[in-house]
Amino acid sequence: MTKEEIRNRIEQLKREKGAVILAHYYTTKEVQEIADFLGDSLALSVKARDIEAPIILFAGVNFMAETAKVLSPNKKVLIPVPEAGCSLAESCEAEALARLKAQYPDHKVVSYVNTSVGVKALTDVCCTSTNALKVVESIPREQPIIFAPDRNLGSYIQRVTGRDNMVIWDGACLVHEEFSLEGILRLKTEHPEAKVVVHPECKAELVAVADYVGSTAGILDYCKESDAETFIVVTESGILVEMEKRLPSKRFIPAPTIGSEGGCNECHYMKMVTLENLRDCLRDETPEVVIDEATRAAAERSIKNMIANISGMICDGAKPGCALKVTSGVATAIFSAYLAMQHSFADSTEGIVEDDIDRTIHNLTRIGHDGMQVTDDLILDIMTHKQ
Ligand code: 13P
Ligand code: SF4
Repeated sequence: MTKEEIRNRIEQLKREKGAVILAHYYTTKEVQEIADFLGDSLALSVKARDIEAPIILFAGVNFMAETAKVLSPNKKVLIPVPEAGCSLAESCEAEALARLKAQYPDHKVVSYVNTSVGVKALTDVCCTSTNALKVVESIPREQPIIFAPDRNLGSYIQRVTGRDNMVIWDGACLVHEEFSLEGILRLKTEHPEAKVVVHPECKAELVAVADYVGSTAGILDYCKESDAETFIVVTESGILVEMEKRLPSKRFIPAPTIGSEGGCNECHYMKMVTLENLRDCLRDETPEVVIDEATRAAAERSIKNMIANISGMICDGAKPGCALKVTSGVATAIFSAYLAMQHSFADSTEGIVEDDIDRTIHNLTRIGHDGMQVTDDLILDIMTHKQ
């Protein structure tokens, strides 16, 4: 079959089965192009929860498909390559985290979404690189935290918040650890006008030379908002596809890895997803993500705590880092609607329950004013850092 024929077959299967394809920005260009929804880890989690389709075909790595299944247990979640893992998720096994928790029984556990479902089941609140800072800041300062599994993201948050009560797991992303400071400084000399955009999974020395540090969605927004025309991109190279599509007049230079002269860095796990295996997976409806109910329910709580924890990302536009600029009236109303939820998270090791989330979403829908309807779609936009 030619590529065109495979694409047509996938479209036909999607129509017949009512399936939706979700893809991460780090997958290949042809996979991104066939996706119905493309996003960063946070946006994909939220989308997986809200999607109406009976089948979700996940073009990404294993932990992402697992997260989709946790949030949508009644849907069939398909993953074309279950062995597409993640060095962060693999660095942190549930048994080892359980041992660490036993050593620090009064610590709350904040885990990056790049973890197995077993780790999420032991976690109080998950986070992604988009909201990690907000999640940690929402926990009272005197409350000690175990942060797992990314040591780079963990130390970045520790530096920014000045918190000294964080136990940080020693895991790393093999892609982001490989970027070369020397190479980036060389590029900066060649292109002094360029802005350096860095993912927080990178080492501290790279974060230190960044003009902007943030998730894939955050980096995309920054490049759009910035007056700069050239950017040195210090994250996985799949993001360049979306950057060049959204901002064709700007120039994006991939950062080199240690020991290389130039080029870019790829996550080989993400690149395991192809048009061919997407077609086969949808046609045969296998491999399917299966999770036992007790683990799923425990993991769901920590992911829902993350999704609910967005109030700090809304402001009246006065603060730097504000994700959604609304009028101060709307911002105040949204903050008030979230207050009860924030309070219940701060006070309870159990976290918030589903009813709290539903009630808050309902309140948000009710309080929309100033010509702006605060709907589920808007909430999704807030969480995915878009306007
Ligand atoms: P974000 O999608 O949150 O930026 O994370 C990047 C990543 O490494 C996903 O595996
Ligand atoms: Fe994991 Fe890094 Fe690949 Fe993301 S880019 S899936 S964190 S190995």
